[in-house]
Amino acid sequence: MSAEAPLLAVLGVGVSFPGARPPVRALADVELRLLAGRSLGLVGESGAGKSQLALAIPGLSAPGAVVEGSIRFCGEELINASPARLRALRGRHIGFIAQDPQAALAPHLKVGTQLTETLRSHHALDARAARAAALQMLERVQVPAPAARLGQYPHELSGGLRQRVSIAIALIASPSLLIADEPTTALDVTVEAGIRALFLKLRQELKLALVLVSHDLAVVGGLCDEILVLYAGRVVESGPAAAVLKDPRHHYTAALAAASATLEAPLGLPLATIAGSQPAPGVELAGCAFAPRCPAAAARCHAERPPLASVAAGGARVACHFPRASA
Ligand SMILES: Nc1ncnc2c1ncn2[C@@H]1O[C@H](COP(=O)(O)OP(=O)(O)OP(=O)(O)O)[C@@H](O)[C@H]1O
Ligand code: SF4
Ligand SMILES: [Mg+2]
Repeated sequence: MSAEAPLLAVLGVGVSFPGARPPVRALADVELRLLAGRSLGLVGESGAGKSQLALAIPGLSAPGAVVEGSIRFCGEELINASPARLRALRGRHIGFIAQDPQAALAPHLKVGTQLTETLRSHHALDARAARAAALQMLERVQVPAPAARLGQYPHELSGGLRQRVSIAIALIASPSLLIADEPTTALDVTVEAGIRALFLKLRQELKLALVLVSHDLAVVGGLCDEILVLYAGRVVESGPAAAVLKDPRHHYTAALAAASATLEAPLGLPLATIAGSQPAPGVELAGCAFAPRCPAAAARCHAERPPLASVAAGGARVACHFPRASA
């Protein structure tokens, strides 16, 4: 483990909705560390809790959500920080791209106004300097004809261009951390590949730390240094991306890898969808939540929840009583 102080440190984080019927625990005991300039991919199937984690970090959890644990950004505790402090951090220090690409864009405001207003809410700049910075940011995110785009409304842009503009808005005030929740799911395959390439370029140019959410292990594997796999609201595996992709130790991660069309299936597993489903929201199993679907489940798995424990030097950790043998 690095001695360098992390930019982001999440410890024992849980998110629950006690008012829901039945009450839902969407996340439990989540732990992660991210150093400045590094990238972390959050993966897991629908309902695993990826968005709940992505939202909790910048203080954007829905009303009714109870967030517990510790979320430290640059050493500052964000849990129970005031709404005003969180608003000040968001945009300026933490950029956020929501799962719904429309959410970042105000339909009634021109692209240029949205960029310059965001920038001027965090930095003291006159209108002319803000416009120049907006133009530069649109160029950086490779929006063609950027000067003309400043005068356009979001509905005049294609889905791919709208996504690039929302990335520009998230980055215009120069945050050190960008959280992007499934930034490519609404896009077609070619546009999606372009946005992924853009993330790679931006990471390198801006020395950004990135938390990237995806349901596809291959997508985060190509872009991220570290991977964190969520299942039913808990971390089941985390570690360096290359190690997790090449040698998944948790049976769920191995199944996710086998289900990814662009990854070579781990040894012994056919390319497949994962049969069965996660426990329904509000249902907490006593043992391992993956046990009903796991090919290696034994009696102990149904009775006792496996803790997240180190399995290899280099930081790989897995929550499994009987991890897959190292390849
Ligand atoms: N407002 C809410 N009230 C009750 N439960 C909620 C609420 N919002 C989310 N949940 C529950 O939290 C769990 C995690 O949801 P989340 O949106 O984080 O999943 P996800 O991994 O992002 O899935 P997807 O890939 O579909 O985006 C789900 O079981 C969901 O039903
Ligand atoms: S703890 Fe048991 S059921 Fe859960 S993943 Fe490991 S072997 Fe499978
Ligand atoms: Mg989501």
